[in-house]
Amino acid sequence: MLSYQHAFHAGNHADVIKHLCWLGVINALKKKDKPFTLYDSHAGAGCYDLADAMSTKNKEYESGISRFMDADVRQPLLNDYLALCHDFLSLNHYPGSPVISAQAKRDSDVLHLMELHPAEFNKLNSYIGKLRKPNSHVHKRDGYEGLRALTPPKPNRGAILIDPPYEKASEYLDVVKGIQSVFKRWQQAQIVVWYPLLSERAGAKHGASESMCDKLAELGTPCFKAEICVSQNTTDAGMYGSGVLVLNPPWQLDQQLSDVLNEITPLMGESASSSLQWLNQDN
Ligand SMILES: C[S@@+](CC[C@H](N)C(=O)[O-])C[C@H]1O[C@@H](n2cnc3c(N)ncnc32)[C@H](O)[C@@H]1O
Repeated sequence: MLSYQHAFHAGNHADVIKHLCWLGVINALKKKDKPFTLYDSHAGAGCYDLADAMSTKNKEYESGISRFMDADVRQPLLNDYLALCHDFLSLNHYPGSPVISAQAKRDSDVLHLMELHPAEFNKLNSYIGKLRKPNSHVHKRDGYEGLRALTPPKPNRGAILIDPPYEKASEYLDVVKGIQSVFKRWQQAQIVVWYPLLSERAGAKHGASESMCDKLAELGTPCFKAEICVSQNTTDAGMYGSGVLVLNPPWQLDQQLSDVLNEITPLMGESASSSLQWLNQDN
């Protein structure tokens, strides 16, 4: 049964690192005229009202976007992200990954959004419909099954965002299997995987992201991971940070992301820290 609802977490520190990285990937694809295809295997509701009961329950956006939404920023990628978010934030909304993709892509680029939760799917479908962006497709289907059915794209350029809720411990292995299956048909796929960093309190899930990253590195594809932590990893910290692992990353995304993390981390609180590490170097 699907119970996760992203509205409780919209705009938090995890959304910030994930959406900055995803936008960096899209920006790099846009450097060539040739169209590309974007896939979002776990799309969510598309856009979130930061004033509704779910978002205001824990006000997680206060650990993320609220920290720097009005700052005068230097890094171009950070500037692009805030420019894209601006119109939504002015309505007290936060754009999820589907809206970021739909806004950032060109009309000729294709977008496939997969969401399984019936209520989240209905919200997503209605929101993406209102944006009226050509070549944007919303699918009520399992994200991994959708990736198997819809990849490789023609032409063979594009990227995948994999952002599961990780409610069950088995979901970490699902990510690895899903990516193995994509690479069998589409080795050039640029893939961004978001993962939580969980303290011992998470029980069986503690350490699961770290071993998932090890397994993904063992695939041998060039990849790096970038992480932001907002508190210390004490026993009962819960989710103390999160990261993105990028397979087949575009040229210079590592530097751009590192520069952005260096700019925002001091704004994320006294205990905040960030890092970027290549697992398989691109030669
Ligand atoms: C973390 S949220 C997505 C947030 C979104 N990517 C963003 O950044 O705005 C994960 C979503 O995946 C959905 N989901 C869970 N299992 C799924 C599956 N097997 N296939 C497609 N969607 C799934 C959940 O209903 C939830 O809406």
